Amino acid sequence: MRARILWILHLGLLAVVGCGSNDSARTMASSDRLESTADSSAKEPLVRWTVPLDLAKLGMPSNPKVDGKTLQQIVSSVLAGRDDGKLCSDCHNRSAAAGGYGVPVESGKSSSPILSIQLQLDGHRWAGPGGWAERFIANPTKPEGVKNLLKAWKDSGFQE
Ligand code: HEC
Repeated sequence: MRARILWILHLGLLAVVGCGSNDSARTMASSDRLESTADSSAKEPLVRWTVPLDLAKLGMPSNPKVDGKTLQQIVSSVLAGRDDGKLCSDCHNRSAAAGGYGVPVESGKSSSPILSIQLQLDGHRWAGPGGWAERFIANPTKPEGVKNLLKAWKDSGFQE
């Protein structure tokens, strides 16, 4: 009888300890991330919106369609970053908002002014949770090359 009670207590304890440690691991992971953006001694982000891309630094094969360009230039249709050489504004412009993403730019032209990460476009910004970067990454129709850059930008904390 006593052994049985102890066993039940033990199971209860395991359940409590088990859940507790999972939760605190999760909390720690997210607070680590917050600290790493706030702490100036933290590692330099691998991809920023306005800094020229260096695929080798990301452990990816270099690609002349991307290397030396910034995400800002690619997304603002100043330079093409897709392997097919198309500009974003070929399909996302004043008269066409493919997938609900419209940009106030003429078809095939560059955005002016160049897009900032905080600018609201059709209700979302590029940066942050639920933003266009995350939507692009989650969209199965989007090219892997550009997705990987946006993933690296997200992992670097969506920094300017
Ligand atoms: C050849 C046309 C074409 C080009 C070029 C193009 N897109 Fe798109 N884009 C689409 C279409 C079509 C969709 C809607 C896809 C779907 O979900 O069916 C879309 C969807 C999107 C979405 C919304 C995704 C979502 O799920 O909410 C974003 C953001 C986006 N594109 C950004 C870009 C950016 C940035 C570029 C340039 C790097 C670009 N697109 C280039 C055709 C294009």
